[in-house]
Amino acid sequence: MILMKKIEEYVRSIPNFPEEGIIFRDVTSVLQDKEGLHLAIDLMQETLKDVAFDIILGPESRGFIFGVPIAYNLNKPFIPVRKKGKLPCETVEMEYELEYGTAIVEIHKDSIQPGQKVVIIDDLIATGGTIEAITKLVKQLGGEVVKIVFLMELEGLKGRDRLKEFDVSSVIKYE
Ligand code: PRP
Ligand code: ADE
Repeated sequence: MILMKKIEEYVRSIPNFPEEGIIFRDVTSVLQDKEGLHLAIDLMQETLKDVAFDIILGPESRGFIFGVPIAYNLNKPFIPVRKKGKLPCETVEMEYELEYGTAIVEIHKDSIQPGQKVVIIDDLIATGGTIEAITKLVKQLGGEVVKIVFLMELEGLKGRDRLKEFDVSSVIKYE
């Protein structure tokens, strides 16, 4: 019998990175193992099995890693949400606070059509600031967020409280 490792076992945790007091949940240890990569994509994708939607949005950079294969598998388009200054056409932007520091995210104005149903995918929710900012951009462009999926959730930071009006799923939960 082949014993499959659980998804949790693929995540490496690094204390005090990138700052004192942060426990960094390292997704590279999942990605560098072919079974870990399969399991992560499959478990995230599973949460979408009953969800009707038009497009997947993923934030730079770790949201790209999971958003693209899931969009490809489900035959949907992928919209990159980028840090400020990277996108070449007309954008809408939103500033937000991170667990460490602040940032501005942007998407192309023509990437969401009014009425489109949007799924947001990222590797991890900490404070929820990144995804909250993205939900505001989606709303601004007339889209509707129908589901938000994370591989990991840092429950202690209560990011979910900022996303109360949305359907949120996470595969791995840390206290
Ligand atoms: C990380 C992570 C999430 C976000 C979570 O990305 O991949 O997108 O922070 O934090 P929050 O819930 O407090 O907003 P980061 O901005 O560090 O960029 P990276 O993926 O390029 O490392
Ligand atoms: N992004 C924000 N907080 C993080 C954490 N603790 N581990 C990994 N990525 C993060």
